[in-house]
Amino acid sequence: MTPNLGHGCATTVAVMLEVTVSTSKPSTVRADALVLGVRSDDDGAEVSEALAAVGFTGKEGETAVFPAGDFGKVRTVVAVGLPAEPTAEQLRRAAAVGLRKASAAKASSVAMALHPAGVEEVGAIAEGAGLGAYRFDRYKTSDDDSRTNIESVQVLTPFGRQTTATAAAERAVVVARAVNAARDWVNTAPGDLRPPAFADAIAGLGTKGVDVSVWDEKRLAKEGCGGLLGVAAGSEVPPRLVRMTYSPAGATQHLALVGKGITFDSGGLSIKTGPGMQTMKMDMAGAAAVVAATTAIAELGLPVAVTAWACLAENMPSGSATRPGDVLTLRGGRTVEVHNTDAEGRLVLGDGLALAAESDADHVVDVATLTGACLVALGERTTGVLGNDDDLRERVLGAAELAGEPMWPLPIPEEIGKAVTSSTIADVRQHNPKPYGGTLYAAAFLREFVGEKAWAHLDIAGPAWNDGGVRDYTPTGGTGAAVRTLVRLAEDLAGA
Ligand code: BES
Ligand code: ZN
Ligand code: ZN
Repeated sequence: MTPNLGHGCATTVAVMLEVTVSTSKPSTVRADALVLGVRSDDDGAEVSEALAAVGFTGKEGETAVFPAGDFGKVRTVVAVGLPAEPTAEQLRRAAAVGLRKASAAKASSVAMALHPAGVEEVGAIAEGAGLGAYRFDRYKTSDDDSRTNIESVQVLTPFGRQTTATAAAERAVVVARAVNAARDWVNTAPGDLRPPAFADAIAGLGTKGVDVSVWDEKRLAKEGCGGLLGVAAGSEVPPRLVRMTYSPAGATQHLALVGKGITFDSGGLSIKTGPGMQTMKMDMAGAAAVVAATTAIAELGLPVAVTAWACLAENMPSGSATRPGDVLTLRGGRTVEVHNTDAEGRLVLGDGLALAAESDADHVVDVATLTGACLVALGERTTGVLGNDDDLRERVLGAAELAGEPMWPLPIPEEIGKAVTSSTIADVRQHNPKPYGGTLYAAAFLREFVGEKAWAHLDIAGPAWNDGGVRDYTPTGGTGAAVRTLVRLAEDLAGA
């Protein structure tokens, strides 16, 4: 397939299914497949004989797929093991696992009877289904996937006639679509999503209530955004700064979001190893997350103002690239002594955070695949949360817990804060003189640009990308990390 390098071609529409709620019983619902939650102590289940015959014990995550036979009006039953009182996260996972099994069994419509679902549970099941249905086939020229596309999911609940249940399913669809859009962008080949193309894709979203403005390289120069320009200096394509604003009537809180959008991180002149740059198309996952979250927040009509800045640049080596030793002047006039051109994320975020600091936002949150050190500290699946404000950090961690995204706090120790301002020739040093605490140093650097604002920094270097096989609702490749947490945070700030 010829790579498509034109502008405005970068958005692929994530697969999205129709989700409804229904008061139907598992035994009477019409669908190709029924996904049935079964507890280990559930002898009374109507399909228990069939389950026993295939050795199904009902352990969490266990599945059994069999023809429905005389049972109900469906063709296939997918039993999924669940504990007696499943958490929202267990329901999300079970829904995704069940949906994929149904898809492998050639279903296109699915009914989910995972739990006697209340309104909270309806949301979790719908979200798990929407996330689990994701697939990325933009570059496949033939359909070598034996799974079917699931077109519709009915979530069975005794509360199916209540508007709150329908609203929970609708919210879940909006959120899942946003996460899947972020995944699509991360998975897109980096040659197809260079900064101008990514900016065009964001500008082309057309979300109601969201204004988008794009700064090109001329405007960036005029506005003093030397971080973005410095990082992009080695690339044949210019950087872009995209601002999205959503300002609903009656909002009392204003959340600023800033995302790292390095569409490819080769390391620049401080070039990475071959294996080290293998996955570096994902280095724009922070920008994808803030854009997708802003879209979802607007689509949900949450009464909180949001301004998002996506800081887009390509980090490449060339004769025009920024050198170690160069000094850049970032937005607001602070000078930075560059030591390692592979620590580029903090340079583009410095511009974005300075702009957020100038705005009237009450809270600033940045999201970035910032440091390999965060993988060393917290492993591949946990986001590091740092910042300058205990209340905001706690809110982010609370939102992450509700969303089912593992996040953990990390400190910005005093001595690391001091090291950032220890450059002998500029205002700040870009890079830690010591090989320890790389994530903490990067955050201390960012703190220099946020002024007095309450700020939290999410280092998603690990969770943004899944190197392994699909697990539960997390696909291989781009995961859409942090989107769900940002939406929960906005809901929290909106008092929803
Ligand atoms: N994009 C990388 C961080 C990264 C590494 C994300 C692995 C995901 C997986 C970032 O720009 C980078 O290269 N950071 C350097 C910083 C160092 C030069 C101070 C790193 O982590 O090694
Ligand atoms: Zn880098
Ligand atoms: Zn990077």
